[in-house]
Amino acid sequence: RAELGQAVKVKPEATEFTKVWQRLRRLPVSGPHLANPPTVIVMVGLPARGKTYMSKKLTRYLNWIGMPTKVFNVGEYRREAVKNYSSYDFFKPDNESAVKIRQQCALAALRDVRSYLTDEGGQVAVSFPSSQHLNLSRLYLIFFIESVCDDLDVIASNIMEVKVSCPDYQDCNKTDAMLDFQKRIECYKASYQPLEPDHYDRDLSFIKVIDVGRQFLANRIQDHIQSKIVYYLMNIHVQPRVIYLCRHGESTDNLQGRLGGDAGLSPRGKKFAAALARFVEEQKLKDLKVFTSQLCRSIQTAEDLGVPYEQWKALNEIDAGVCEEMTYDEVKEKFPEEFDLRDQDKYYYRYPAGESYQDLVQRVEPVIMELERQENVLVICHQAVMRCLLAYFLDKSADEMPYLKCPLHTVLKLTPVAYGCKVESIYLNVEAVNTHRDRPLEYSFKAVTR
Ligand SMILES: *[C@@H]1O[C@H](CO)[C@@H](O)[C@H](O)[C@H]1NC(C)=O
Ligand SMILES: *[C@@H]1O[C@H](CO)[C@@H](O)[C@H](O)[C@H]1NC(C)=O
Ligand SMILES: *[C@@H]1O[C@H](CO)[C@@H](O)[C@H](O)[C@H]1NC(C)=O
Ligand SMILES: *[C@@H]1O[C@H](CO)[C@@H](O)[C@H](O)[C@H]1NC(C)=O
Repeated sequence: RAELGQAVKVKPEATEFTKVWQRLRRLPVSGPHLANPPTVIVMVGLPARGKTYMSKKLTRYLNWIGMPTKVFNVGEYRREAVKNYSSYDFFKPDNESAVKIRQQCALAALRDVRSYLTDEGGQVAVSFPSSQHLNLSRLYLIFFIESVCDDLDVIASNIMEVKVSCPDYQDCNKTDAMLDFQKRIECYKASYQPLEPDHYDRDLSFIKVIDVGRQFLANRIQDHIQSKIVYYLMNIHVQPRVIYLCRHGESTDNLQGRLGGDAGLSPRGKKFAAALARFVEEQKLKDLKVFTSQLCRSIQTAEDLGVPYEQWKALNEIDAGVCEEMTYDEVKEKFPEEFDLRDQDKYYYRYPAGESYQDLVQRVEPVIMELERQENVLVICHQAVMRCLLAYFLDKSADEMPYLKCPLHTVLKLTPVAYGCKVESIYLNVEAVNTHRDRPLEYSFKAVTR
């Protein structure tokens, strides 16, 4: 390591340097390799308690941190099997033909869970309860997430927001859909048994989420993934809010096409800072929080806003290591191999003495947690960091992440809707240089086939 520190200081010839680094950093070719068996998450609770919401959101998060995860929603198997849902009669516990269909759907879902975890490299499968899950506990770690909520207003608004517009009710008016869904919940109540931490279920691993996060009860957390899931569920909320993401104003380094550095704003960058302040004022937001990085260009962009801002080191731009403050042409000339390696796999590529996008995801994870906790927030960050954040909110893969378009002087407005995020791109009408570099054509084929 000491030798390496020396090497960094004196910047030796490119070839020699590259060799050292290729030995020292072991580029991982996939997500983390875990010693534990894969995990099956079982979502428990009556309908309209936010199980689908939690499972989709959790899946997006786990995939983003590099843990391959997929949802196996029995409801979707059922819709596939019974194309035309007629009414809640289907869910009556004494409807034998329907019960048979539902059992077959559960089996089909479990078969898919198995092949995902065993043959397709999946680490976590999110599923819904069936009598079969005990059979899985010999192969996988089972973790239950139960959502308990008896607040009628919360349930009604959940049904209104996501259930009445689901494919089951496409030929139905909202009032009828609502009534039918409520009867469906009654059908489930007949067989639903809440988890009992003090009695039957004391040996199971689970978290009970009570009243949309007012209270949590965690039982027998077995491993890293489970503790991460618990941590995540304790941070998210469902209050309406808006997240604004933008980059700093154009910097003097941007004008010269230089990577990284800590330059201040160009004259146009300063104009953007003023335009951003006007824009934020027009949005008339209640209690807006502002996050910046600790770099000069990000802080200068926030200064006109007239509100306090938090400076996060975790939001600093990707560390380009020995390539800091070089232009792409200089990198190409001095470190041709590095330049090519980065193009081959931009997500996993780590700059010598610097960072990769994968490193960046780890670094900004605490910011994601904080963004989940907050309500209205504006984040003024940097190109690579913004791509990481955006990939999380828009569920983009590791392969797409380094090529997401995050132009200067453009604010992305993210509004959570139903199970995802609506995104609007607002250009604030101050010209800036373009810092985006498309994926080179010779490597796009790989991207398409992935
Ligand atoms: C479902 O729809 C098909 C035609 O679309 C029809 O033939 C069939 O009888 C319907 N089944 C039920 C249970 O309504
Ligand atoms: C059982 O469900 C089917 C729909 O799949 C429905 O047509 C039928 O009327 C139901 N039977 C009873 C006894 O509720
Ligand atoms: C458990 O799985 C095995 C092998 O996949 C299967 O043969 C058996 O029927 C299953 N048991 C239950 C109770 O589902
Ligand atoms: C919804 O449709 C039912 C008939 O299926 C009708 O009786 C009811 O008035 C309608 N409600 C509304 C609000 O349109």
